[in-house]
Amino acid sequence: MKTKISILGSTGSIGRQALEVIDKLRDKFEIIALTGGANVELLNKQIAKYKPKYAYASSLKDIKGADVLSIEEICANKENDIILVAVSGKIGLIPTITAIKNGINVALANKETLVMAGDIVMELARQHKVDIIPVDSEHCAIHQCIKDVNQVEKLIITASGGPFLRKTIEEMKHATVEEALAHPRWDMGKKITVDSATLMNKGLEVIEAHHLFGMSYDDIEVVIHPQSIIHSAIEYVDGSVIAQIGLPSMHIPIQYAITYPERFSGIKSKSFSFSEIARLDFEKPDISKFRTLQIAYECGRKAGSFPICMNAANEEAVFAFLDGKIKLFDIINIVEKMLESHKHIKTPTIEEIFEIDNEVRSKVKELL
Ligand SMILES: NC(=O)c1ccc[n+]([C@@H]2O[C@H](COP(=O)([O-])OP(=O)(O)OC[C@H]3O[C@@H](n4cnc5c(N)ncnc54)[C@H](OP(=O)(O)O)[C@@H]3O)[C@@H](O)[C@H]2O)c1
Repeated sequence: MKTKISILGSTGSIGRQALEVIDKLRDKFEIIALTGGANVELLNKQIAKYKPKYAYASSLKDIKGADVLSIEEICANKENDIILVAVSGKIGLIPTITAIKNGINVALANKETLVMAGDIVMELARQHKVDIIPVDSEHCAIHQCIKDVNQVEKLIITASGGPFLRKTIEEMKHATVEEALAHPRWDMGKKITVDSATLMNKGLEVIEAHHLFGMSYDDIEVVIHPQSIIHSAIEYVDGSVIAQIGLPSMHIPIQYAITYPERFSGIKSKSFSFSEIARLDFEKPDISKFRTLQIAYECGRKAGSFPICMNAANEEAVFAFLDGKIKLFDIINIVEKMLESHKHIKTPTIEEIFEIDNEVRSKVKELL
């Protein structure tokens, strides 16, 4: 039996790599729907090649070769066995909730979903007995290592450190967009690449890990590991540490997530060789340079509406940085400013989550 899959964000970095994974496993998958944003030209090429029944593009340009449905309609279609949520930003939340409410398993790349509404999403997944399988390489690593979460003492999330790991604060202050987008290890969408440069991405991942694995923030550690070979690890109560190791490629976690619990050779191109790697380095993150990490821990601990405010302010500020309107460190200053004036809501509903999100984004735009 083929796994019936829909890919939200098939024209993006994760979406395109997911299709490359499926290319190697064509007899295992039937594609129900593909969705894109502005790049309808690519979406139409994908439709011609993969022949999904349905498609959607937020730009509402001409889609050829598939019936057009909204993202919510695609996610409510019970033909799907699994939906890969690979759109970026807040637009991932409602489709994820729709899939869960319809009993459809989710391969979740979109980290903003859990940052904005982790408590609601994980509770819904429990109620509807739906698997949320992480695509993020760090969470995929932890997912592979964990047998019994009650026996886990600590999660160790690795971070490459991004393009500014060896730069001074002064150099970072004058960083150009091109420098921020020149990630040494991963080829990703622009938003996540800038987040990796400020280490906000790691902060978002800490909050994501808290929700996915139910671990307290005190028991989630971030360690800089420039080679990106150890994708993350867990320490059990008896001191045993289990790490997931592999070459830095998003194909592996994507394939793991969409074929879980089975494994196939699929996209694998070569075997891992310790002798070729030669050395692995680890160091503590420099909090004075990467304040975002500390901010994310604080917002995660305060919980409620704080992570929503942080996420919205960060996303708008990153877009402004990419547009050349602000400097790299202004992103962090803007996030801090929004958090200072934030009126906390302890357990926001989905409606309130979007109200807070919209309000913060408007404030950031005013400030800019
Ligand atoms: N890339 C990675 O290696 C990586 C790793 C871990 C986690 N993630 C997470 O995965 C998510 C996707 O990241 P990415 O790097 O693949 O991003 P990306 O390359 O920017 O792709 C985003 C996708 O979302 C679509 N999209 C944009 N606006 C839309 C809208 N309003 N409605 C519907 N679709 C829209 C884009 O379509 P168009 O391109 O057609 O405009 C594209 O298909 C993010 O949450 C990121 O944090 C990514």
